[in-house]
Amino acid sequence: MSAVPLVVFNNGHTCPVIGLGTWKSKPGEVTQAVKDAIDIGYRHIDCAHIYGNEKEVGEALKAKFDEGVVKRADIFITSKLWCTSHRPDLVEAAVKTSLADLGLDYLDLYLIHWPQAYKEGEDNFPVDEQGKAIPSAVDYVDTWKAMEGLVDKGLVKSIGISNFNKKQIDRVVEAARIKPAVNQIEVHPYLNQEKLFEHCKSLGIVVTAYSPLGSPDRPWAKPGDPTLMEDERLKVVAAKHNKTVAQVLIRYAIERGMIVIPKSVTRSRIEQNFQVFDFQLSADELQAVAALECNGRLCSMGDVHHPDYPFHDEF
Ligand SMILES: NC(=O)c1ccc[n+]([C@@H]2O[C@H](COP(=O)([O-])OP(=O)(O)OC[C@H]3O[C@@H](n4cnc5c(N)ncnc54)[C@H](OP(=O)(O)O)[C@@H]3O)[C@@H](O)[C@H]2O)c1
Ligand SMILES: *[C@@H]1O[C@H](CO)[C@@H](O)[C@H](O)[C@H]1NC(C)=O
Repeated sequence: MSAVPLVVFNNGHTCPVIGLGTWKSKPGEVTQAVKDAIDIGYRHIDCAHIYGNEKEVGEALKAKFDEGVVKRADIFITSKLWCTSHRPDLVEAAVKTSLADLGLDYLDLYLIHWPQAYKEGEDNFPVDEQGKAIPSAVDYVDTWKAMEGLVDKGLVKSIGISNFNKKQIDRVVEAARIKPAVNQIEVHPYLNQEKLFEHCKSLGIVVTAYSPLGSPDRPWAKPGDPTLMEDERLKVVAAKHNKTVAQVLIRYAIERGMIVIPKSVTRSRIEQNFQVFDFQLSADELQAVAALECNGRLCSMGDVHHPDYPFHDEF
């Protein structure tokens, strides 16, 4: 294993605290990005079926296995169940598609990507004439039971959830035979998630911070939107440590005890984002960064009419 610090899950499995994100990484770029990340020392890659690039991630993994740079057991691979495959009888086929695309025979972690179930079928974003997402009547608790079956079959080592709010987490935990190991949620100084993080901790659920850099390449970004990495208050903290704002943002998640998965397809940034184990934020700095909270959510899918839309509640 590499020297990256590990987080221990409630089931005893471990996960490197930093992973490479792959959302929006184009098929033509992601193979090189994953190869670079592994060469630099990353041992954790965050994937999802809906990102449309798992085959290309798989090509990079195969190359690094063939070169003998890493063995399967040395690297932590996450994928996610898409919303159109929540129906329990579709879950196993969905994970097998991701496994085949990635060229793996097991995943380290499989997440329910969002609590909302969509109408089953070929269309990943089924909408009605008004453009509203078409729900499926599947209860995510029943999806969870099918996820547990994947652990029984050895297809995945750990299972978890993503974008679940407090009420939704509690419903899953209450019904679970196998507790969720992880809740992967948006976390950065503009949405520090203190309450949901504390709640997850109280249940033994690790939080993975997504969009830690403020996701500047999100498709719906508009000119004039606040840009986390250009925040003057963060630049002051970064300058003090001779680090970049990106490095401070990654360190902020790690020091809180979260896993963090910054995305880049640029080798120099992939490298920079990994250089975060040689400095520490002071208690005062952590507090100053946390004070930037402004309910600045960036990722919400917009399907506010869906009965399981997670972001109406306070947390
Ligand atoms: N579970 C979910 O629903 C969910 C939702 C969102 C994200 N995620 C996961 O979390 C990962 C990270 O989130 P994200 O992709 O939304 O955004 P992010 O990691 O916050 O930001 C990625 C953007 O920052 C740029 N960047 C990376 N490092 C940089 C650096 N050191 N300096 C300057 N710019 C830098 C990247 O550019 P280049 O790539 O051009 O270098 C890219 O445009 C995703 O890729 C995905 O794996 C999960
Ligand atoms: C600041 O960081 C840069 C890049 O890592 C490095 O080249 C430089 O030597 C550092 N300066 C100081 C004063 O530590």
